[in-house]
Amino acid sequence: MIDYSGNFRDFIPLLDELTDELKITKEPHKLYEPINYLFFKKGKQIRAMLVLLSNQLFHDSITGVKELVLGIESLHNFTLIHDDVMDNAVLRRGATTINKKWSINQAILSGDVLMIHAYKHLLSSKDVNKLFVQKFTETAIEICEGQQLDLDMQTNISFGLDDYYRIIDRKTGSLIKLSLTAPCYLTDLGFKYLNTMNSIGLYLGQLFQIQDDYLDVYGEQDKVGKLKGGDVFENKKTFLYAVALSSANSIEKEKLVSIYHSNHPNKLQEVLTLYDQLSVKEIVQEEIDKLSSKIFKLINGLDVNARKKQLLTKFIRFLLNRDQ
Ligand code: IPE
Ligand code: IPE
Ligand code: MG
Ligand code: MG
Ligand code: MG
Repeated sequence: MIDYSGNFRDFIPLLDELTDELKITKEPHKLYEPINYLFFKKGKQIRAMLVLLSNQLFHDSITGVKELVLGIESLHNFTLIHDDVMDNAVLRRGATTINKKWSINQAILSGDVLMIHAYKHLLSSKDVNKLFVQKFTETAIEICEGQQLDLDMQTNISFGLDDYYRIIDRKTGSLIKLSLTAPCYLTDLGFKYLNTMNSIGLYLGQLFQIQDDYLDVYGEQDKVGKLKGGDVFENKKTFLYAVALSSANSIEKEKLVSIYHSNHPNKLQEVLTLYDQLSVKEIVQEEIDKLSSKIFKLINGLDVNARKKQLLTKFIRFLLNRDQ
């Protein structure tokens, strides 16, 4: 489990309270049990933290913020349930996925009801305005569009960084952006910061998905909580694959493409050997460094209290070291 007991300990009681509110205790039990099973494992709650950290930049109160978090975390967890079906995943948050523990049909239906619950949370607060609900809806659509492109790419052999960013800005970046901008919709003061928070969200979304792709092959399964190499086994077109392809000579390219689209018994090992030859780890680090400097520059430029900015900066630094 992620450890927020350092600089972020003050957020723990609120995060725990919100996790409890995300659970759905209603009948039929079979519909809601998989959802509560997923929330029991919590996850990193990064989007919740981003909403709270963004809010404290320009607001002293948290009126309406709780519902924003509940809506966003419900949407996020819904995408995970359906994503695991689409990615044929067996492990999530260190536990068997819903599609494998119950069934694909169950994952579809429990996922659907969770998505609808996201709206229930948003509509329960008078502080959440129509403009935000529209933005939330557009974001949910963008995620589906990104997921479609992600699916399409499983069978596509040519794949470049442009394709990669086109996919991840939608499937992942859109929700990270929404989390950072959500508090801007609560007040006129907050709205002034919408553009900058959007730009921070764009780069952070990219950074976050590149890390996710990296952890898929270089992380420890026990920490990440997902099957090691899951992306490779499913021919997922990751940042690592894109940069390997662009640095490879024609022989290496042919080898990578053929192994990546095979069911070779040593597929993961073979791919990792090629990644090593092509210095993929180093290229990942360079891209992360570039993105994080852009993020820090944007945060520094915000005309808000330095201590408040520092908390967001500390959180980004904390994310830079994540191993889960
Ligand atoms: C996983 O998100 C999906 C991606 C966008 C990479 P997280 O890594 O935030 O998942 P949890 O909520 O912590 O389990
Ligand atoms: C996550 O992409 C995108 C969404 C869930 C919308 P991944 O498929 O890489 O996420 P993980 O690795 O399964 O968490
Ligand atoms: Mg997945
Ligand atoms: Mg996926
Ligand atoms: Mg992934």
